[in-house]
Amino acid sequence: MLLKLVLVALIPACFGALNPIILVPGDGGSQLDAKINKTTTVHYICQKTTKDFYNIWLNMEQLVPLVIDCWVDNIKLVYNNVTRKTENMPGVETRVPGFGGSETVEWLDPSHASSGAYFKDIANMLVTVGYERNVSIKGAPFDFRKAPNENQEYFVKLKELVEETYTENGKAPVMLLAHSMGGPMSLYFLNLQTQSWKNKYIKSLVSLSGAWGGSVKAVKVYAVGDDLGSYVLNAKVMKQEQITNPSLAWLMPSTIYWKPNEVLVQTDKKNYSLSNIEDYFRDLQFMDGWEMYQDTVKHSSNLTAPGVEVHCLYGTDVDTVEKLYYKPGTWLDGNPTLVNGDGDGTVNRRSLEGCTHWTKLQQQKVFATALSKVDHMAILNHNSVLSYIRNLVNQV
Ligand SMILES: *[C@@H]1O[C@H](CO)[C@@H](O)[C@H](O)[C@H]1NC(C)=O
Ligand SMILES: *[C@@H]1O[C@H](CO)[C@@H](O)[C@H](O)[C@H]1NC(C)=O
Ligand SMILES: *[C@@H]1O[C@H](CO)[C@@H](O)[C@H](O)[C@H]1NC(C)=O
Ligand SMILES: *[C@@H]1O[C@H](CO)[C@@H](O)[C@H](O)[C@H]1NC(C)=O
Ligand SMILES: *[C@@H]1O[C@H](CO)[C@@H](O)[C@H](O)[C@H]1NC(C)=O
Repeated sequence: MLLKLVLVALIPACFGALNPIILVPGDGGSQLDAKINKTTTVHYICQKTTKDFYNIWLNMEQLVPLVIDCWVDNIKLVYNNVTRKTENMPGVETRVPGFGGSETVEWLDPSHASSGAYFKDIANMLVTVGYERNVSIKGAPFDFRKAPNENQEYFVKLKELVEETYTENGKAPVMLLAHSMGGPMSLYFLNLQTQSWKNKYIKSLVSLSGAWGGSVKAVKVYAVGDDLGSYVLNAKVMKQEQITNPSLAWLMPSTIYWKPNEVLVQTDKKNYSLSNIEDYFRDLQFMDGWEMYQDTVKHSSNLTAPGVEVHCLYGTDVDTVEKLYYKPGTWLDGNPTLVNGDGDGTVNRRSLEGCTHWTKLQQQKVFATALSKVDHMAILNHNSVLSYIRNLVNQV
């Protein structure tokens, strides 16, 4: 009985020592809502108006043939070359629901269909060691279609969320737990803060599959789109939406990790590398992409260390596109052969390893863990990743 009382008294004290966690999602890793009031649509079956906001990002019902054309026309962005920013299509309003809560980054699908699971296995594991959703597990979703230059408001909100979370959890410094593009988003965020702020509020940055130096996959998406690994989606249709996102330009291979003349796209008439990437956009007849690239390249080629302890986990030894090869006689409108190299299936190895360079650039420790054969998405529920995080949060 006495033992029980002692335990009961001790448990809150132990839990009080837990560092709260803020989940920072990657590209496509947040829910997105839209409200429509259009005067014209691309197809008669498309709805011109909706009464209220509805879930637009990866609602499978909207991704079937024909309906997907309506979807593309609602979710794509339009580049304004005067403001150098993107806007929604006329008559479309969007919002990112659930900032601060964990729900909308645990599940992309509000109905919790298993295909829409994102951070939920990590959150479930954290709950078993004493964490509480919305209190010590928070989420920081953002409009992943946009790059840091158009997400300045987000970084202000994230700073407030870190401070609030710290206070609500007995002044315990916060861990940022990021996936994929959430890694560079967190890096950008941390680089905006002073060292004394980071020392006070941040325990560490834990990154899974961090795309520190972009990926050749972005080069591929501009040419042929991406089916997001789904058998039912058509890459060419998805492309119409994907290429309008400034975040895609931001995820182009970084000049830090790719040599200027390294061939990214090979055709019999011309090769494309970072040194003539403008020609690539021109020959694809997508100069808005070149504009977005120029707007974001300064944010993708910055190796400044975050100035906090880093735990960087990433997969390797999975085929990952390194170059697009067009057979002689074919051109950019054809189907390239994807020449693979090392990576996690989405991000190239050299980009994933970007965090290792900080070892020499900051005093705070950098722990890098490469996990052989762990795919970009599979890392989110891989046993060794779950136990790594469990051990980390249990360290006092
Ligand atoms: C829809 O847009 C029209 C203008 O195109 C406007 O007159 C109308 O008030 C809008 N409706 C709603 C519900 O916002
Ligand atoms: C902006 O785009 C318009 C239409 O595509 C084009 O005519 C114009 O030259 C562009 N302006 C700049 C400053 O790039
Ligand atoms: C967290 O907060 C969100 C939004 O307020 C709510 O929908 C969700 O149910 C909450 N989750 C828990 C576990 O309390
Ligand atoms: C890189 O980021 C740091 C921190 O935000 C900034 O001070 C520096 O000017 C940036 N460097 C470049 C080349 O943009
Ligand atoms: C393109 O690059 C390949 C491989 O680096 C090279 O063999 C070829 O000659 C280049 N083609 C052109 C047109 O420059």
